Amino acid sequence: MSISGHAIVAGVMGWPVAHSLSPRLHGYWLRHYRIDGAYVPLAVPPGEVEGALRALPKLGMAGCNITVPHKESSLACLDDVSNIARRVGAVNTVVVGSDGQLTGTNTDAVGFRDNIVTNVPGWNAAEGPAVVLGAGGAARAVVAALADDGSPEVRVINRTEARAERLADDIGGPVFPFAWNDAADAMDGAALVVNTTTLGMTNQPPLVVDISALPLSAVVADIVYNPLCTALMETAAARGNTVVGGLGMLLHQARPGFAAWFGVEPEVTDELESFVREALGS
Ligand code: ATR
Repeated sequence: MSISGHAIVAGVMGWPVAHSLSPRLHGYWLRHYRIDGAYVPLAVPPGEVEGALRALPKLGMAGCNITVPHKESSLACLDDVSNIARRVGAVNTVVVGSDGQLTGTNTDAVGFRDNIVTNVPGWNAAEGPAVVLGAGGAARAVVAALADDGSPEVRVINRTEARAERLADDIGGPVFPFAWNDAADAMDGAALVVNTTTLGMTNQPPLVVDISALPLSAVVADIVYNPLCTALMETAAARGNTVVGGLGMLLHQARPGFAAWFGVEPEVTDELESFVREALGS
């Protein structure tokens, strides 16, 4: 539908922002639910994020998503930040309150969990140890979700071990740092493996990891969604593991923001996934 003078406006703040799939994703929901609203790219350079966030209520906007490189720096620019965003150390969703106050949260943890649960019905984090490859911002959200869902043990493996140690201290719970060389051994007895590194992404080096010790009952998830099926997923599927790709996490993490800004709880459907996939050329 076309938008009126009453349209609710939200967007995604990033630099660069042209590559973001969020306008396509939210635009689909706006059309699907016939909402008088718009979701626009907001190209905000580093150093300008505080001013841009403070402009949201002045412009009458409902809020925005935050993407690279502003997810960490925007934490300090908001009036209120949720516990999960504080633990993760990053904000990806900002809501403007009726009083103009800015509230930030991080929906990557819930997006990760909802994607796994949707694709592996009955999946339960408490069932066994998890191996998380990587210790960046995405890893922090994944580890927080696993720790909060009762994982008995989260083994965090990172090239820079100090970063894995810091993650374990910050997130809390049964989270244990390991060196990259320990990856093959850490697979032993695991119920879940998640790649949160940039390895295996299009135009990035491949992810080389030995999963021969991983039980065949384990779920293997990649948060990389370009390509949709990574080499890790192919190897795991070929030996019989259940695999989950990263596109669903992107779709699911978008739901709480859309609901808060536009007042409708949107659904992640196959049609939506196909529509977003088209933009990835697959
Ligand atoms: P994000 O916020 O999306 O998680 P990030 O903070 O840049 O992104 O984290 C990228 C992750 O990929 C990190 O765990 C990084 O390892 P380091 O902490 O050692 O940098 C990992 N990564 C990137 N390139 C890598 C490589 N060539 N080998 C191993 N790990 C790599």
